[in-house]
Amino acid sequence: MGGDDARPELSSDAVEVAPPSDTEVSAEDDILVPLIDDGAPRLRELAELPIGATVAAGTEYRSVFDVPATQQTVVRHFDTVTAENIMKMRYLHPEQDRFDFEEADRLVDWARANDIDVHGHTFIWHADYQIPEWMLDLDGDWNAMMDDHVETIAAHFAGRVASWDVVNEAFADDGGYRDTLFLRNGGPEYLPRAFLAARRADPEAELYYNDYGLECNQVKLDEVLAMVDRFAADGTPIDGIGVQMHVQLDWPELSCIEDALGQLVATGLKIRVSEMDVPVNNIYNPDTPAYGELTTEAAERQRVRYREVLTTYLNVVPPDQRGGIAFWGVWDGDSWLLSIAGADDWPLLFGGPADGPYEPKPSFYAVVEALGAE
Ligand code: XIL
Repeated sequence: MGGDDARPELSSDAVEVAPPSDTEVSAEDDILVPLIDDGAPRLRELAELPIGATVAAGTEYRSVFDVPATQQTVVRHFDTVTAENIMKMRYLHPEQDRFDFEEADRLVDWARANDIDVHGHTFIWHADYQIPEWMLDLDGDWNAMMDDHVETIAAHFAGRVASWDVVNEAFADDGGYRDTLFLRNGGPEYLPRAFLAARRADPEAELYYNDYGLECNQVKLDEVLAMVDRFAADGTPIDGIGVQMHVQLDWPELSCIEDALGQLVATGLKIRVSEMDVPVNNIYNPDTPAYGELTTEAAERQRVRYREVLTTYLNVVPPDQRGGIAFWGVWDGDSWLLSIAGADDWPLLFGGPADGPYEPKPSFYAVVEALGAE
């Protein structure tokens, strides 16, 4: 591995001579990550669209700040980063009258110092674990509280966060609005309200609606398309749709992905692959092979799958509508899918030892191939 840290070392006895000002170690220098050479092409140089990954941060296990290998790999390959958890509601807004931006600021500052944009995730999401307790029993003006939630966070990061998932997963798999705290208290209007609040507080950030399972589920996709139509009709701002793309080797069919992306492109909005990963074990289908390790065959099937899905995205979504491609994690062992499956898997682009150096897998080269074919 190359990429020695080229920054000057300050020797402890160099007290008499102050370093010239251009070599002073400023707070910013301190977070600059040296560029490593992992022998693979840099994805961010191949891609003509934003290319991102998610990282743990703050006090989370294996925070990016505790794992130099994650920092090095992100800096080498990605130009966009998303907090896996720490920019969700509970973390940023722990009490009604208190926001806590410390951990998120550290991540955002780190990213920007290293020439990486931040995609914020997410102002509003139904998942129980990330809704602050106080919000569950709010006794007061719900809409005013939600406006304050979105506006305060958007304003805090204005100019430093390029784009946001304003609302995540608002529609049910069998159609209609998902029954959430936000729907129950704010009615369907909570969606446009959140987008309006975000735009007011940060007119520059691109605003996304993000969801999973829009492929092979026309009922759910129709809900998203109808929302976009309503937004267009009444002037509610929205810039893009995020398609999570937590897919399997054998699901959904490529034709469904192609068809759904085509319908989304017809909205004229940006379309972003927002959370891609591909486990090699499909725990929902007992008829598929169970891999106890990442065999050559499994890695090859995963490579083919990454390549075909991303090639489809690049074929269907015209360049000016590409919001980017982002992966939900960096190193296989850190994938959220391991805790969901309760078993090993290898869903991402990098393997190798936990402390690095991470090793680009065949799935990584699938991304190189898809981008290179462009
Ligand atoms: C996941 C994180 O990866 C986990 O660490 C956490 O325990 C649960 O949330 N869709 C999303 C993400 O939009 O926010 C989820 O992230 C994964 C599914």
